[in-house]
Amino acid sequence: MTKRRPRRRPRLPWTLQRRLVLTVVGLLALVSITIGVVSVVILRASLLDRLDVQLASAADRSAAALGGGGDNDGDRLGDLPGSPYFGTPTADSILSGPAQPPGLLALVYDGSTITTGYTDDRSGAIEALTAQQVQLLADHVNQTAPVTLNLGGELGDYRVQAETSRSGTLYLVGLPLTGVAATAAQLAVIIGLVSLAGLVVVAVIAAWVVRLALRPLQRMTATATRVAQLPLDRGEVSLSERVPADDTDPRTEVGRVGAALNRMLDHVDRALEARQASERKVRQFVADASHELRTPLASIRGYSELTRRSGQELPPDAIHALGRIESESVRMTGLVEDLLLLARLDEGRELDMQPVDLTRVLVDAVSDAHAAGRDHVWNLELPEEPIEAIGDEPRLRQVIANLLANARVHTPAGTTVVIALAAEGNGVVITVTDDGPGIPEGLTATLFERFARGDSSRFRAANAAGAPSTGSTGLGLAIVAAVLAAHRGEVTVDSRPGQTTFRVSLPRA
Ligand SMILES: Nc1ncnc2c1ncn2[C@@H]1O[C@H](COP(=O)(O)OP(=O)(O)OP(=O)(O)O)[C@@H](O)[C@H]1O
Ligand SMILES: [Mg+2]
Repeated sequence: MTKRRPRRRPRLPWTLQRRLVLTVVGLLALVSITIGVVSVVILRASLLDRLDVQLASAADRSAAALGGGGDNDGDRLGDLPGSPYFGTPTADSILSGPAQPPGLLALVYDGSTITTGYTDDRSGAIEALTAQQVQLLADHVNQTAPVTLNLGGELGDYRVQAETSRSGTLYLVGLPLTGVAATAAQLAVIIGLVSLAGLVVVAVIAAWVVRLALRPLQRMTATATRVAQLPLDRGEVSLSERVPADDTDPRTEVGRVGAALNRMLDHVDRALEARQASERKVRQFVADASHELRTPLASIRGYSELTRRSGQELPPDAIHALGRIESESVRMTGLVEDLLLLARLDEGRELDMQPVDLTRVLVDAVSDAHAAGRDHVWNLELPEEPIEAIGDEPRLRQVIANLLANARVHTPAGTTVVIALAAEGNGVVITVTDDGPGIPEGLTATLFERFARGDSSRFRAANAAGAPSTGSTGLGLAIVAAVLAAHRGEVTVDSRPGQTTFRVSLPRA
């Protein structure tokens, strides 16, 4: 069985703020530790020096007490008969001598016996040492320079120094290191606490300062986010978003970023304006060209019709040619009308919005489709109540006509087409479903773009025999999408072989 690993908590990201605050706090901690360690070491060394001086004077006084004198020759209390120090020199003579510091430890070796003892700091009484401690001290009886010994037990560390008195007695005196250790520890604790408090204060201040310094970056992020939400890829957009002037001071690092961002936005704004201007020109050109083409096309159609119907005898070839001219001019008129409509929708020209009875629009459209495509089965599913929507009626009729024309033209004879109308929430949904072969694969992505069409010549050839051909330009669904966008509605498609559904949704009001 495999044990499930405990899920690791996602690591917090290394934000600039965290990085800066932690760096400052880390460096300060390093400096504090260094200062603390150096201070404690220096303090300890200086306290030890002072202890050694005390030890040396204690040794001098001890020499006097022992009656021989060390360096201090003037004082020979022990040499005097009647003095309390007179007689065999012992540790007690040293310890009970005048002006000896508390905690003093002494060992005296007069050549045959060793006497030891120490004065208790608190009670001032002279206490005995254990055999182990005596042995340890005896091992250092030749040590003329001060050394530190750990005597264990209650005594702990002692600084000891051995001397020989004038009379040749070996003796050793020691002073406790407890005072030195306590003072050093105290200093360490104080430095530690002060540093800790300092670190907390510095961390808070650093976080505040860094946050303050990064605030312009947050404002820039907000600007960039607003720009990112603009629909720059279509239509007329003006890019008026800029980083506030306060955040673009080129003398600061953050200001330089702000200034660069503004320069970039200026650049994008100019590019957008250029794109919009060129799009406007193309639209204008298409609109003008389509408009200008309408009149000559109407003339061509009219004259060819007139000639064909003039009643004069014409050779069959000429009649056929005139028929072709007529049908092609009809097709071209449709194309020109489509282009003009798209150009006008692109311009965002106002639609003539009125309440539209969709039920009637669908009934008319299906009856037209039925007339045009007798080989198809047309089913209309309408709700009990008539449904209205606000829209431009001719344009909505065109949307339905385009969808029904597609269901007729791009499917084989015998295909069933179901047109349904339903109210859905605040909107209206019209679906056109056919059981034809489906939209060619590879076309779905660009289906609603202009001039996107599949190779459907197979079915068109069959259809063309019955109905006059209107040709296939690939503008039908582009018009559907543009008209619905102008109505704030949308069209979606779901197609697979055997079922293709176009779903048109429109807001009711
Ligand atoms: N119901 C459908 N079944 C199968 N294919 C379809 C259907 N509707 C559309 N298509 C495919 O989508 C393409 C684009 O349709 P669209 O209406 O935009 O252009 P078109 O019908 O080719 O030309 P136009 O409508 O401008 O005369 C069509 O060429 C056809 O390949
Ligand atoms: Mg079409």
